[in-house]
Amino acid sequence: MSEHRAPASSSAADSQPEGIRLQKVLSRAGVASRRAAEGMITQGRIEVDGEVVTELGRRVDPQTSVIHVDGSRVVVNEDVQHLLLNKPQGILCSMSDDKGRPCIGDYLRERDGKLFHVGRLDVDTEGLLLITNDGELAHRLMHPSYQVLKTYLAEVPGPIAKDLGKQLRSGVQLEDGPVKVDKFRLVDVNEGRALVEVVLHEGRKHVVRRMLEQVGHPVRRLVRTAIDEVKLTSERPGAIRKLDRKEVGALYRAVGM
Ligand code: URA
Repeated sequence: MSEHRAPASSSAADSQPEGIRLQKVLSRAGVASRRAAEGMITQGRIEVDGEVVTELGRRVDPQTSVIHVDGSRVVVNEDVQHLLLNKPQGILCSMSDDKGRPCIGDYLRERDGKLFHVGRLDVDTEGLLLITNDGELAHRLMHPSYQVLKTYLAEVPGPIAKDLGKQLRSGVQLEDGPVKVDKFRLVDVNEGRALVEVVLHEGRKHVVRRMLEQVGHPVRRLVRTAIDEVKLTSERPGAIRKLDRKEVGALYRAVGM
């Protein structure tokens, strides 16, 4: 569990007459009905600010309390947003552009809250981009020390040598240092073109394109399909969806929050 949590302070929480009952907060967050949430509390499955809470009278502040259910973070602050944008090809990964070029900010203008994108995709890369207003989560997801896995599908010219996966797993030298994939999979081969899936835990600029170019397969199309357990499903380009509770929990777990 994270060392960044607020210190456990049952006396502070107990003396918060204006707080909201924990079971109500849990049911509002969609964890369970109020009655079922009470059962979860008495079974010791709920932590508030790093402390297991078993008493039913506990009140919490949903704006500031860090709540875990069975060890998974549940976001109870209704102002915190976690979204997925299927970034279309040809769209800049910035919230605004002084030259008026189309950018992802165009897709988010109508939404409230100070949203920002988690990392970047090249203008020509499509696919999964996380959008949030949780600064600490975004910071950690982008930080190389957490080694969050990202999955890409790349269309490249074939044929694909039998040992390409081995080569990419053992490492390819780029001008700013070596890069390795965690996983490689040949997905499809069709008339001189191949579709390959690579999973890596790093995020240097153009890293997938540079790596595949280096091994003789310049990328023709690149799509990010997953970050950790969050996957692009059937969202059309430009579509935005809210992450579900499991996906949000997985992201927080991946970065120790
Ligand atoms: N690697 C790339 O080459 N481009 C991206 O947009 C992301 C990873």
